[in-house]
Amino acid sequence: MNKAVRKAIIAGNWKMNKTRPEAKALLEELVPMVKDIKNVEIVACVPFTNLETALSVTEGTNIKIGAENCHFEKSGAFTGEISADMLAEMGVEYVVLGHSERRQYFAETDETVNKRTKAALAANLKPIVCVGELLWERECNITNEVIARQIKLDFFGIEADDLKKCVIAYEPVWAIGTGKTATAEQAQEVCAFIRGELAKLYGADVAETITIQYGGSMNAGNAAELVSKTDVDGGLIGGASLKAADFTAIINAAEIG
Ligand code: 13P
Repeated sequence: MNKAVRKAIIAGNWKMNKTRPEAKALLEELVPMVKDIKNVEIVACVPFTNLETALSVTEGTNIKIGAENCHFEKSGAFTGEISADMLAEMGVEYVVLGHSERRQYFAETDETVNKRTKAALAANLKPIVCVGELLWERECNITNEVIARQIKLDFFGIEADDLKKCVIAYEPVWAIGTGKTATAEQAQEVCAFIRGELAKLYGADVAETITIQYGGSMNAGNAAELVSKTDVDGGLIGGASLKAADFTAIINAAEIG
């Protein structure tokens, strides 16, 4: 098996951006621009407040909708949190989990990422699980150790059939929102390493089927080279997903492959 068996996924992570009217306008602009895309799964992961709008604007189109997090409990006294069931009931398909901003600013750990991933899978959501090293960790030459640990812990106790429903996003923390993109070679090296770790845990056949995205300052100018790499199966896009033309250019780059 090889890259040809995996569908590229280009997902926008809007983060804490866009009011409802702004979300509606962006998606209404995007829908006709990407309507002929066949080989790329297009996902917009939007703030909770925009989910209903996003689902309604994209109904019947080739754009899937995701949330940016979910809690691991089914319900209960967790003020301010949203459960996986609440998202699934709305028709949400994907959920970003373990984003470095959640880990950095909201004290999420591999243990809670693991619990959230299990909760999302139980609700039939497709988790986009983010992993990545800090600049300091790269400088200390422990990128592989950090990534191996995250993969092992974030997917602990998850069976192969469930892993196949997950997407992994490799997002080097130093490349997020900084304009510093990993080179295509760096992205390929770590994405291939992730696939190797998955092969150790689940076997090579399973590992070959998992979509592994790159994320971190991906844009219209660098997307084609990044997604041309053997183990880079698309991207998780922050800033450039907030403009329809920029996001479309990245999607087009992945469509060509
Ligand atoms: P930027 O594309 O803005 O660097 O953000 C990447 C990211 O964090 C996507 O989840």
